[in-house]
Amino acid sequence: MTEPLTVLVIGSGGREHALCLALHRDPGVADVHCAPGNPGTATVAINHSIDQLDGAAVAALARTLAADLVVVGPEAPLVAGVADAVRAAGIACFGPSREAAALEGSKQFAKDVMAAAGVPTAASHYCATLAEVADALDALGAPYVVKQDGLAAGKGVIVTEDREAALAHAEACLPVIVEEYLDGPEVSLFAITDGVDSLPLQPAQDFKRVGDGDTGPNTGGMGAYTPLPWAPAGLVEAIMTQVVTPTVAEMARRGTPFQGLLYAGLALTSKGLRVVEFNARFGDPETQAVLAQLETGLGGVLYAAATGTLANIGELAWLPGAAVIVVMAADGYPGTLMTGGHIAGPRLFGTDDNVAIFHAGTAVDADGQLIAAGGRVLGVVAQAADLTQARVDAYAAVDALDFPTGFCRRDIALRAATGEIPTPSL
Ligand code: AMP
Ligand code: GLY
Repeated sequence: MTEPLTVLVIGSGGREHALCLALHRDPGVADVHCAPGNPGTATVAINHSIDQLDGAAVAALARTLAADLVVVGPEAPLVAGVADAVRAAGIACFGPSREAAALEGSKQFAKDVMAAAGVPTAASHYCATLAEVADALDALGAPYVVKQDGLAAGKGVIVTEDREAALAHAEACLPVIVEEYLDGPEVSLFAITDGVDSLPLQPAQDFKRVGDGDTGPNTGGMGAYTPLPWAPAGLVEAIMTQVVTPTVAEMARRGTPFQGLLYAGLALTSKGLRVVEFNARFGDPETQAVLAQLETGLGGVLYAAATGTLANIGELAWLPGAAVIVVMAADGYPGTLMTGGHIAGPRLFGTDDNVAIFHAGTAVDADGQLIAAGGRVLGVVAQAADLTQARVDAYAAVDALDFPTGFCRRDIALRAATGEIPTPSL
């Protein structure tokens, strides 16, 4: 494609705001639309009110806009088959089919694919009853890991030494997977794939627990940084060879090729790398930092993946330095939320410096005031010469915000910046 692209992004979170900004900055992209979008996406795209789970409505909107490419951001529309509806309408779509999105939608399906593809992952037991859970907990031992089988926005997992708490979590969300505990630092690697060829993005690390020092319950992610100064040499190549390439090949072999973003969540354990989970879309909040580092125009890469021509795209180019994202969440997250709180401050509606504030859960109230309207409300991203400077810039931008009903972690990327994470062996 040589004509500049018209792109429609589906979703309404910080990831979609970051995608819209990266597309908006790509000279190969003429117009960016977002549906439903949010007050942040409205600064870099044209928002359209739509039910993002309605594939026919998304396809109709794409046709009306004469979109060259639809990019489906979140997991829910993918699992609902929105990408299938768009492709059936003859429009290029970045995002896996409903069947392929089961890599994220069902943890048990992902385990089956990994077993068939020889991909290293934690030992696990699928349990439909509490009696099976009890047996599996005893077979694998503490610490206990219990995961809801279906989609849970990152909150369906408990990792605990407390057998009773593990059983109680299982009871609340049967059927579950009981899994071997994986030690070692976690890595998020995103690969863009057309179903045959795959291109890695820069690896990132996200922070799942709500509190400083990795305390408190799991969340969708409280922050992230990229790249990883402590990564062992050859990490990305190892993940591509051991995880991404065999998984993409196994999905094609099954007749359900995976085309879009394959997100491998990994633990670098003392026994080698292990897949913790797959996601079928860009990770949030990691994407907000990863795209801040990307120099190659995003639109052409996503279009190539959507049209089976990724082999024509060379390696991606990255800015020197590092990026950090700090999530501002509404008080109470990930529990009962304090929404409706006012948000004010610089850079909420665009900036031309190295800091961007992405809207993840905001709305504009009747008085035109920006308010919190979700759990994760803002993503504050800084791109700088190194992690230390990126942290300084990101937290300075956080401190410049007037958002009394919000909070953030203060230790995002801290241990990486101070060199406290030992380099694991591969
Ligand atoms: P998941 O929904 O599978 O991504 O799990 C969410 C988070 O729970 C992961 O990012 C890990 O921090 C933690 N976790 C999941 N599985 C394991 C495991 N087998 N061992 C240790 N921690 C885990
Ligand atoms: N950051 C974790 C996720 O996107 O699922």
